[in-house]
Amino acid sequence: MLLEVKNLKTEFFSEKSTITAVNKTNFHIEEGKTLCIVGESGSGKSITSLSIMGLVEEPGKITEGEILFEGNDLLKYNNSQMRDIRGKDIAMIFQEPMTSLNPSYTVGFQIDEVLKLHQKELNKEQRRKKVIDLFELVGIPLPEDKYNEYPFKLSGGQRQRVMIAMAMACEPKLLIADEPTTALDVTIQAQVLELMNELKKKKGTSILFITHDLAVVAQMADEVIVMYRGHVVEQASVKELFDNPKHPYTKALLNSIPVPGKVKRKSRLDTVDENVDYLSFPKEIR
Ligand SMILES: Nc1ncnc2c1ncn2[C@@H]1O[C@H](COP(=O)(O)OP(=O)(O)O)[C@@H](O)[C@H]1O
Ligand SMILES: [Mg+2]
Repeated sequence: MLLEVKNLKTEFFSEKSTITAVNKTNFHIEEGKTLCIVGESGSGKSITSLSIMGLVEEPGKITEGEILFEGNDLLKYNNSQMRDIRGKDIAMIFQEPMTSLNPSYTVGFQIDEVLKLHQKELNKEQRRKKVIDLFELVGIPLPEDKYNEYPFKLSGGQRQRVMIAMAMACEPKLLIADEPTTALDVTIQAQVLELMNELKKKKGTSILFITHDLAVVAQMADEVIVMYRGHVVEQASVKELFDNPKHPYTKALLNSIPVPGKVKRKSRLDTVDENVDYLSFPKEIR
């Protein structure tokens, strides 16, 4: 098992209240598999992934649980150990590429920096070749020319590819993608998803994929967890989830969109009835 999250609890503290963003969450990811986290906005998806990365910011705090990566509890790691893990073993792709690309440096330079940090055995020439190989791998046209481009000169789809190239630069064992295609148009979105599936096949990378789009789940997932108000209400294989959803909230989600196969793109999860508390259902029907 590559990653096991046990009883994870992440809370935000203020003078007035404590918000439990992630409430005793359990899930796991196997080598070479994709786990999708699906849930509406505010359900705790991003905080779950930031918890794994050790990037939860004040006033947030992980207050309980274990995050076992290859059997080692990341919550016991210090900052410098976590920095080593990030980028080398676990890499993350964010929704908006400009949050992780620096506008002042060429994209080639920025990936070179990552390689310098994590692949110290490579010399300058080898690194340059590797950057260009990565650009080719993620389908960036004219990779040699693009090496010297600044991020703002690239299209949104190309920037997203650069970010994937950057994430793949160190051949992470786990790639975390938090709504990576939401900002892209439908065609580019499909290409980027396809690319991630190819990388998974070629490199055996495990993927934690966060989305609120059930059509994307159908395309990407091996396993799915459904989050609702900080709780994991259901974990199932992608087939089980669509064929035989168990939790009332999952059923509501699936009912709120057309059946998979005939799934409309861009189907959002905001049609679930907000006045229903899906956690208050009796245990037997949950
Ligand atoms: N910086 C913060 N301060 C206080 N509460 C936060 C903060 N970030 C997130 N939260 C709380 O955590 C919940 C889950 O957030 P998040 O994981 O970002 O949801 P999403 O599923 O949309 O990614 C939010 O509904 C909010 O109540
Ligand atoms: Mg989010």
